Amino acid sequence: MKLFTPQEQQNLAAHFPEFSMLFQETLDSTQSECQRQWVKNPSVRWLVVANHQTNGRGRYGHQWQSPAYVNLYVSWIQPNPYKNQIGLLNLLCGILIYRSLKPCLDFPLPELTLKWPNDMYYADKKLAGLLLQNLDADFSKIIVGIGINITAQKNEIPETATSLALIGANPQDDTRSKILHHLLTNFRDPVFAEYTPDKILDEFAQCSQRTREHFYSYSCYQYYYKGKLQELHPNGTATIITDHGQIVHLTS
Ligand code: BTN
Repeated sequence: MKLFTPQEQQNLAAHFPEFSMLFQETLDSTQSECQRQWVKNPSVRWLVVANHQTNGRGRYGHQWQSPAYVNLYVSWIQPNPYKNQIGLLNLLCGILIYRSLKPCLDFPLPELTLKWPNDMYYADKKLAGLLLQNLDADFSKIIVGIGINITAQKNEIPETATSLALIGANPQDDTRSKILHHLLTNFRDPVFAEYTPDKILDEFAQCSQRTREHFYSYSCYQYYYKGKLQELHPNGTATIITDHGQIVHLTS
């Protein structure tokens, strides 16, 4: 699958003129590049896409495996009306990724699920991940970084991951740009700002139903649990019940 064609790049630029777009063959990380561009010119709303990342960054200091030609790696600057309500912000971004992927799949995918706080899974394998980074002290501007596995094969991504091709979703040459188009439409400022906390919690609950019925891994710097989602709290934190029957409140 080629990097976005000139036609696709022009199309995206025309539809989303609020962004200054950079399409690069190889970068260390679109997230790092977006931040570097912002430091040089903070008044511009950057959007950075790469075909290949040599140092893709995941949450909690993990690496994000980023082979060339097969996936989507994108980061952009997003005004954040939710400020430091990070719990809700995480859930909302997950919902918007879910909503952006759904219409690109040409058959119903009942196993597509969000996993708290914002990972996209197909059954028990991870399909997409999200990295949020604040740019100022009050979180009024953030960098949204998204990685979606599209045509990657098993040997190119971790054993715990999957791709649209591997789940039989039949991605085409233009799937990456279609998904990016949906993402930018769903993350548009007015849509992003219209979500109330209740709406965020409701929608997240609908999109994460599978994780109430099956065990998933939940890990952070300080913990690792296998559990089923039990409850979402108004601030976006969650309670799980572990495979040992322990009730655990997860905050990040
Ligand atoms: C995670 O689930 O751990 C988050 C993964 C986020 C990966 C994306 S790929 C585009 C952007 N650039 C990066 O270096 N990371 C994010």
